[in-house]
Amino acid sequence: MTSDRILLTGAGGQIGAVLTEALRETYGADHVVATDLKALGPQSGPTEILNALDAPALDELVRKYRITQIYHLAAILSATGEKDPMWAWNINMTSLFNVLEVARQREVAKVYFPSSIAVFGREAHRNNTPQFEVLIPETVYGISKVAGENWANYYFRRYGLDVRSMRYPGIIGYQSMPGGGTTDYAVDIYHYAVQHKPYECFLRADTRLPMLYMPDTIKATLQLMEAPSDCLTVRTSYNLAGMSFTPEEIAASIQKEMPGFQISYKPDFRQAIADSWPATIDDSAARRDWGWQPEYDLDAMTRDMLYHLKLKY
Ligand SMILES: NC(=O)c1ccc[n+]([C@@H]2O[C@H](COP(=O)([O-])OP(=O)(O)OC[C@H]3O[C@@H](n4cnc5c(N)ncnc54)[C@H](O)[C@@H]3O)[C@@H](O)[C@H]2O)c1
Repeated sequence: MTSDRILLTGAGGQIGAVLTEALRETYGADHVVATDLKALGPQSGPTEILNALDAPALDELVRKYRITQIYHLAAILSATGEKDPMWAWNINMTSLFNVLEVARQREVAKVYFPSSIAVFGREAHRNNTPQFEVLIPETVYGISKVAGENWANYYFRRYGLDVRSMRYPGIIGYQSMPGGGTTDYAVDIYHYAVQHKPYECFLRADTRLPMLYMPDTIKATLQLMEAPSDCLTVRTSYNLAGMSFTPEEIAASIQKEMPGFQISYKPDFRQAIADSWPATIDDSAARRDWGWQPEYDLDAMTRDMLYHLKLKY
């Protein structure tokens, strides 16, 4: 049995809910403590209510469970953050500082902090966006992720804290609902399709964005966290890519399985955010350093999403 003891913040979110279960399969249910602002339902392992802004409460849990790894997922996402920028900045940065500080002081061995393609702005190359690129994000969320990446790098260089990070693209899964990002349409659309409802998309038909299916997201996260430390050359955050598609391409993929499915387009404020993000990402550093290789393309994801959601509804 492993001696690792893991704590997740934001474990009730779209990614956290799935990652918690994956970590429990790897490390044992009792070794993974799921925490969130909101009470989590009954689970196979320990759960706690934790506001990640509350440093003493975080410290208490790290001591209570003798935590050796923290996966810090709690954050306010891109679209939600724009509604109240200072509130989003405070949550994203204060919670990260609390995690980095408790890890440094309590000798937590590893920290995981997901960044995002939202770190890029329109000055960045839109196609095949390089690992080391100019970062001028246009959302408070993106600004907080750029700052977070630099603090992760700082804690590694200054204190030797083993903080690891990757820039997730839009994440798509059937297990949980998305939490207020600009790529949420790519999850919602499948829910509408299986209920035989037409879908009105909040982005233009031709908006190409990088995306990743949940099984690949979990695989990437576990792979990065298990990689030998000396293989990792990027201590800000790794670019990560799976597939890139537009709303009209995902609709066409669904129509291959469900020919009657209909989509219409009514872009809102999220269009400007999407327009400032990359269309495709160069993730060669992740492939080289820790062997990243995605498994799912758009049609394979569509088949799997529809299969699972049909069982659900
Ligand atoms: N989902 C995506 O497409 C995507 C893409 C890029 C990066 N990310 C990053 O991955 C991480 C997880 O994203 P997600 O999609 O699961 O987000 P989500 O919004 O679905 O979940 C976030 C969770 O954090 C919790 N939370 C919010 N404030 C909190 C606080 N103060 N204390 C404790 N918990 C708090 C919420 O209750 C929620 O359960 C985030 O850091 C996000 O920036 C996600």
